[in-house]
Amino acid sequence: MAKTESPNANVDPSVLKGLDNYVNLPAAQQPTWYDSGVLEASKAELSKLPPLVFAGEVDTLRSRLADAAAGKAFLLQGGDCAETFADATADRIRNRVKTLLQMAVVLMYGSSLPVIKMGRMAGQFAKPRSNNTETRDGVELPAYRGDAVNGYDFTAESRLNDPRRLLQAYHTSASTLNLIRAFTTGGFADLRSVHEWNKGFTDNPANIRYETLAKEIDRAIQFMAAAGADFEGLKTTEFYVSHEGLLFDYERPMTRIDSRTNTPYITSGHFIWIGERTRQLDGAHVDFLSRVRNPIGVKLGPSTSPSDVIELIEKLDPNREPGRLTFITRMGAGKIREEMPKLVEAVKGTDANPLWITDPMHGNGITTKNGYKSRRFDDVMDEVRGFFEVHKAAGTFPGGIHIELTGDDVAECLGGSEQIDEATLEERYESLCDPRLNHMQSLELSFLVAEELGKR
Ligand code: PEP
Ligand code: CO
Repeated sequence: MAKTESPNANVDPSVLKGLDNYVNLPAAQQPTWYDSGVLEASKAELSKLPPLVFAGEVDTLRSRLADAAAGKAFLLQGGDCAETFADATADRIRNRVKTLLQMAVVLMYGSSLPVIKMGRMAGQFAKPRSNNTETRDGVELPAYRGDAVNGYDFTAESRLNDPRRLLQAYHTSASTLNLIRAFTTGGFADLRSVHEWNKGFTDNPANIRYETLAKEIDRAIQFMAAAGADFEGLKTTEFYVSHEGLLFDYERPMTRIDSRTNTPYITSGHFIWIGERTRQLDGAHVDFLSRVRNPIGVKLGPSTSPSDVIELIEKLDPNREPGRLTFITRMGAGKIREEMPKLVEAVKGTDANPLWITDPMHGNGITTKNGYKSRRFDDVMDEVRGFFEVHKAAGTFPGGIHIELTGDDVAECLGGSEQIDEATLEERYESLCDPRLNHMQSLELSFLVAEELGKR
């Protein structure tokens, strides 16, 4: 058989070299794997597996995000704090997709803007942790770093940082994404199914409000049908996947050279973000992600300075490419009105046009008296309101929300119209990581955001 040309033959060698520059830089939050030989074998296997997403899709997403940055679309990004292998089941994936579709409809109806749907799904398997180890009853073991690294069970065997899990993360992402693609292109996401998406969830006030809205949409569709409109475009919907780009041992082997453009794309997800704990300006994560073509997000916590923001723009979006850079602010309800304006103002004085979205989850963590990691729904709502206020005052566009949610009927965040209290957490708390809004709280939040968008 004739030898085929190496896929990287036409690539500028400095581009390939640059992709590995991160190894020379401090990389926060990387696991210490139990065996380097197993790691090398896992990386080699990953690098041969097919891409999960395609460069052309990534480019389309970038142009959609450019629309959002320009005030012509809104981004809805949501899913688990940490996906798990065990929960990658048809029911749970479907419930999350349905919840996101419902939220998107509420937002679209309220704002009359296209809503870009993006899951924290099909790849969100690695977590940054405050400590390398966890101690229980005098026993110290490696901290749980997400299913791509180790298991949650508190045993030495499960907490072993095992590189073979990187392959399982890939395969679980592939099957999750396969189902998402089937749901969103196979008829399930047809806008004429708005009522269907509400089925199977226990009755609650947010559901009922949703039903009312779904009836209005039905009437509008019937009206358009009578007027002879063509509904082909409603049958399918674009749905993108995203995760935190944390583990170099996963993201680097999943980075491929696009044969059309000879440029590198991370093919483990469409959109990759850098977490609050790994956004050091001279660190490995910023360097690595500056070299790929995907749209990139950066979390910004309350300690972010205006110069950090300007330098992040210089590093990650030197060409000021529309849709390239998203800032995901996660200030906390008590801080957003004070800490955010200076960041937005600093960017306003430049030629950059990043997309600003709010993560009203990660700045509002509390630990309840009975020991649960939780968040108050009122704080989440308050941060969202603060986000809209700051952008209104600055004259900039509040372009999206980033939410930890599930379609399941869990009790992890306090409050909401179901008034989840501390005792209820003991009954229905399932998250292995941060607390998520449940189905009803997610819908309630989308109604609030729709109202805020409608006011503009
Ligand atoms: C997360 O998104 O789950 C996360 C860890 O967020 P942050 O980087 O904002 O703390
Ligand atoms: Co989280």
